[in-house]
Amino acid sequence: MPSEIPLPTVSVLGTGRMGSAIARRLAEYGYRIILWNRTRHRAEDLASEINAEAASTPIDAIQRANTVFLALSDDLALYSVISTFRRVDGLVVVNTGTHQPLTVSNVKEYLENNGGCYVESPIIGGPKTVMRGEAILLVAGEQHCIGSTHSILEKIGSIIYVGNDPRTAQALKLSFNLLLINTVNALAESLNLAEAYGVDKDTVKKVLGKTVFSTLASKYIDRMTSDPEKPASFRLRLAAKDLAYAVNAGFEKYVSLPATAATLEKYLLAVERGLGDADYTRIFWLSHKKSTNNEEK
Ligand SMILES: NC(=O)c1ccc[n+]([C@@H]2O[C@H](COP(=O)([O-])OP(=O)(O)OC[C@H]3O[C@@H](n4cnc5c(N)ncnc54)[C@H](OP(=O)(O)O)[C@@H]3O)[C@@H](O)[C@H]2O)c1
Repeated sequence: MPSEIPLPTVSVLGTGRMGSAIARRLAEYGYRIILWNRTRHRAEDLASEINAEAASTPIDAIQRANTVFLALSDDLALYSVISTFRRVDGLVVVNTGTHQPLTVSNVKEYLENNGGCYVESPIIGGPKTVMRGEAILLVAGEQHCIGSTHSILEKIGSIIYVGNDPRTAQALKLSFNLLLINTVNALAESLNLAEAYGVDKDTVKKVLGKTVFSTLASKYIDRMTSDPEKPASFRLRLAAKDLAYAVNAGFEKYVSLPATAATLEKYLLAVERGLGDADYTRIFWLSHKKSTNNEEK
């Protein structure tokens, strides 16, 4: 009988919503997990919960692993973590965050120049979807890098390969997110109008339930109208970031996205009005008549 191949050790850098979900999911499969987070106690708390180890720095975390998952909020976070890496010979870095195509192209070049392997894998689906292993992973990278990560990635969700270029994976992810966020925003505006004329959300739900918008209504109406203080699955400020990245990515290819730019303005206003840490669907509250924390009452 051949002896079983040991599972690789996986480091997760960034233990926010997505990084925590990835770490929890992989820990369930018996991977040895090393965690690093900028705010250290978050990594330590999670480590004691899932029987993982906390690292003191990104370098400490990557030196103890074969494969590294990045789950960082934005380009600045990505650059500030990656720029601490020096030689990373043989290390496989899987980036799961949502970033600008140009940024990830630079990150790939930097890691390859330092002996590492880079796999782009932005995720469609939130933390709960990852925890169920039902996310969609838009994967790009060189075949020899992707190969070693396949068995780990398939624990998180289904894999769609989009080629070698990491920009393609992020362009596809941003295309999806602009569709999702614009749609959620349109649903919020539709509810706002109906409510202003005395139509309650259950009636709107009933009507939409008989149309092509049925899934949208059942998935998002209760979520967007619940208390903005309720914990966010995907923070509104990160949705604003994704809209900005989509507009910039379009600009680089001479594609204008005026509706997305308008939604971006609205999301930026919502951040300014204190909704940045609310769930992105709660854009509903920005122009809601009963809302107490905005000026549009
Ligand atoms: N939530 C979702 O549903 C979802 C779905 C798909 C994709 N994404 C994408 O996945 C990524 C992570 O999202 P999330 O929801 O997990 O966000 P989150 O809960 O806000 O966590 C963000 C993580 O980034 C870290 N971070 C922020 N600024 C940093 C910096 N300058 N240096 C180092 N670390 C920094 C945070 O550390 P601290 O704890 O110290 O703040 C935290 O670990 C984002 O790119 C997001 O767009 C999210």
